[in-house]
Amino acid sequence: MGTVESTGQTRLGVLVSGRGSNLQALIDAVSDGRVNGRIAVVLSNVAGVFALERAERAGIPTAVVDHRGWSSRDDFDRAVVAELQKHRVSLVCLAGFMRRLGKPVLQAFPDAVLNIHPSLLPSFPGLHPQRQALDHGSKLSGVTVHLVTEELDAGPILVQRPVPVLDDDTEDSLSARILAEEHVAYPAAVQTREPASSAFDRESRTSEVAGTTNGTRHQ
Ligand code: GAR
Repeated sequence: MGTVESTGQTRLGVLVSGRGSNLQALIDAVSDGRVNGRIAVVLSNVAGVFALERAERAGIPTAVVDHRGWSSRDDFDRAVVAELQKHRVSLVCLAGFMRRLGKPVLQAFPDAVLNIHPSLLPSFPGLHPQRQALDHGSKLSGVTVHLVTEELDAGPILVQRPVPVLDDDTEDSLSARILAEEHVAYPAAVQTREPASSAFDRESRTSEVAGTTNGTRHQ
């Protein structure tokens, strides 16, 4: 299990495989206080990617766990878990991480692995969701941040932001429009998982219920 610091700050582990623009959105959200947490480690399954450079520039520890050369997927997963636990991570954010993770990770971080996907799930899971949206003639697409379960791109949805699909869109133009919304959606989704905000939500829900059961609403 991960940890939450005594300051109440969530310790994020961000998993990447490439460019890292969603990682950058999280780095920016932490630095301007939209996310009350800290990025404890950025882990990539590919060495030399730009996301790692973004992390280094921001002074965040990095790790590379190459997905090749393990005798099973579970062994790779266990190596990822070990690295995240070394950095006392409490919330795992897949941000353009292009490997599927299974039981070892989900059991080590129950209800605490998030993924971002560039479509309005449950439409267009899997690869090339923007191309799938264009091929189907969708008029609306967008971004989803959801909890990861063993089924691909199918866990409970935390945040969605819609994006129109225009008649003259290409895969690139649609991807760029969705990406701008991804950068808003991921920090917002992380915020929903923070212990401080959930405690606040619980408290306000409790007083709302208390206010209605005796027939007199709080002002
Ligand atoms: C993002 O569009 C993200 O939604 C997508 O990969 C891109 C990574 O960009 N992820 C998936 O398709 C996962 N199924 P980034 O490296 O610039 O954040």
